[in-house]
Amino acid sequence: MAKEYVAIRDVKKHVGEEITIGAWVANKSGKGKLAFLQLRDGTAFFQAVAFKPNFLEKYGQELGTEKFEIIKHLSQETSVKVTGIVKEDARSKFGYELDLTDLEILGSSLDYPITPKEHGTDFLMDNRHLWLRSRKQMAIMQIRNAIIYSTYEFFDQNGFIKFDSPILSGNAAENTTELFETDYFGNPAFLSQSGQLYLEAGVMALGRVFDFGPVFRAEKSKTRRHLTEFWMMDAEYSFLSHDQSLDLQEAYVKAMIQGVLDRAPQALEILARDVEALKKYIAEPFKRVSYDDAISLLQEHEADPDADYEHIEHGDDFGSPHETWISNYFGLPTFVVNYPASFKAFYMKPVPGNEDRVLCADLLAPEGYGEIIGGSVREDDYQKLYDKIIENGLNPDDYAFYLDLRKYGSVPHAGFGLGLERMVTFVAGTKHIREAIPFPRMLHRIKP
Ligand code: 4AD
Repeated sequence: MAKEYVAIRDVKKHVGEEITIGAWVANKSGKGKLAFLQLRDGTAFFQAVAFKPNFLEKYGQELGTEKFEIIKHLSQETSVKVTGIVKEDARSKFGYELDLTDLEILGSSLDYPITPKEHGTDFLMDNRHLWLRSRKQMAIMQIRNAIIYSTYEFFDQNGFIKFDSPILSGNAAENTTELFETDYFGNPAFLSQSGQLYLEAGVMALGRVFDFGPVFRAEKSKTRRHLTEFWMMDAEYSFLSHDQSLDLQEAYVKAMIQGVLDRAPQALEILARDVEALKKYIAEPFKRVSYDDAISLLQEHEADPDADYEHIEHGDDFGSPHETWISNYFGLPTFVVNYPASFKAFYMKPVPGNEDRVLCADLLAPEGYGEIIGGSVREDDYQKLYDKIIENGLNPDDYAFYLDLRKYGSVPHAGFGLGLERMVTFVAGTKHIREAIPFPRMLHRIKP
């Protein structure tokens, strides 16, 4: 009796044995007396070989003419239960092969829309539910998984507690224009943009907390870096200085890259990602540059041939061409620190002695992947925070709980948020963020 439902990843443990695999037909080829099936089951890809009847007599098995004909005519994405004998085969790119002794069709697949030929992006996005089965998309999901796994591991090892912030909120948090509003039993409610404010409550209870889940932003951006629903990892901690906070962020990003190198090397290979570059980002310290020094650098270099950005003044926010140039200039992940208070959130603490700048940092990924982290030291003084809320035209009643945290034993604390899909895009080396999440939500896309 053949061993049932062996994962393709594990076939090498069964050389010489007869096993059964459940899989999908990714592709097939063949000539004359042979038919080759490229099978996948989600754990790996693998080749099965069907020999024309009489070829397998040495095993005392007979596939039969009828089965051989069925195999020869299997169509792409047919699901099958295949039985065969595992053989080591140096010629096969998988190193092993399955010599078929039986095959049963589980689910037919006629006219599968995604063929090995090139398809346009809109077509692929309309068929996202099927596109996810292709090699590259599977590889990106494996990288996403490795990053998620490394995130939990890193925070656990650094004494953080997972603290889940709510998705539905009764009042607007950071920026009202980006909020998705919904009806909550006759009252307005908003979908979370970031769990940060709730995490700050968690910090006062548990010292070091993080959350990790979907957040929503009604941004009408049509860039390759923006989603309207994306996953954010927010971390918050007490008693760390701004520099220590950056050290923690750097260690976290390195842990994620290492996690992908360790857990998904085959995915990086499928995507032809430059692994040496990733190793360099782990080996070398990230760059740290102040916002004002970054502006001066941009001004000095604006006439350079590779300076593909518009003139920028101190006090202006960066556009993505500025960010790309800065990270290319340093060739490493780069923290830009201490931005002007004028375009940053109300809760950021000013730089001591310079009220116009705040203790914050954005981490820019190299190779033009843009900002992956935003974080800051939080204002911990009740009155200063209250004044900032008023200055920003916000209603203090909406922040009653948040202000309370400064009333009852306030302490210095800081935190940051990482955009999971930005990180996946960067590590996977894909061009567009839409491939970094199973079902992307964007300005003009909410299906499938
Ligand atoms: O810089 P942001 O807006 O920071 C916050 O929301 C803070 N409350 C986080 C915190 O301190 N706990 O967003 C954090 C990260 C960005 O650096 C980016 O990686 C990602 O979230 N991000 C997006 N990713 C995809 N699509 C969008 N529309 C994004 N907007 C931000």
